[in-house]
Amino acid sequence: MIPIKNPEAIKRMRESCAIAATVLARLKEQVRPGITTYDLDQIGRDLIASLGARSACHGYQLHSRRYPAYTCLSVNEEVVHGIGSLKRILRDGDIISLDVVVEYNGYIGDNATTVPVGAIAPRTAELLKATEEALHVGIKQAVSGNRIGDISHAIQTYIESRGYGIVREMVGHGVGREMHEEPQIPNFADRKRNRTEEIKPGMTLAIEPMVNLGGYQVRTLSDGWTVVAADGSPSAHFEHTVLTTDSGPEILTIPRAS
Ligand code: MF3
Ligand code: CO
Repeated sequence: MIPIKNPEAIKRMRESCAIAATVLARLKEQVRPGITTYDLDQIGRDLIASLGARSACHGYQLHSRRYPAYTCLSVNEEVVHGIGSLKRILRDGDIISLDVVVEYNGYIGDNATTVPVGAIAPRTAELLKATEEALHVGIKQAVSGNRIGDISHAIQTYIESRGYGIVREMVGHGVGREMHEEPQIPNFADRKRNRTEEIKPGMTLAIEPMVNLGGYQVRTLSDGWTVVAADGSPSAHFEHTVLTTDSGPEILTIPRAS
């Protein structure tokens, strides 16, 4: 069963998502050639703390491992879950995915973006644009009466028609008190659409296409976390947490005006 949030839970989701979005926006401003991904992660940690929240990534347990950093910072062919490192100095022409997940007052906000470092190759810029567009194409499908598979199908079609690889190993997800709740939201059609869950008002969904310039296959590095494109091609990732309502999807991960 997909959890339906009551008004109080929705209010808290709005708050945690606004914080996640504010942190992401401010972290993005710090990206430049010469900075290390360790320094970016420390800035992310401080931003989260300054807003009274907690990183939901730090200490997140997967199998027997705990995620050691505060944000996920994935450079070039790294798809997701990159760990900030003093050895990783950003260079002109790189791209970096910033993934910020915070917990505030018992609820989680989850969002990600991918940004250029200095000047990037035109085909990489196109990859970023297409991945962000695919996110919005997916969000448009998050309407009552549709099914989760409509989101998956729209994203897959958009990406594959442009010749990119849509990553299958990781998926979007429901989000609330837990970072990962039902349903799973694949970015490709893994089942017949009428077998996927129906969308109803009051769901909070993290939609997150991960797109490789080359093939969709990925592998995990020996650190146990960093997922990379198997063919080494650049990879982009965009994510919003969305509330479904009677009048369509509402993106919750928008920075609060202040
Ligand atoms: N946005 C990611 C997700 O939805 C971030 C969490 S990864 C973690 O899975 F391991 F760092 F927590
Ligand atoms: Co997510």
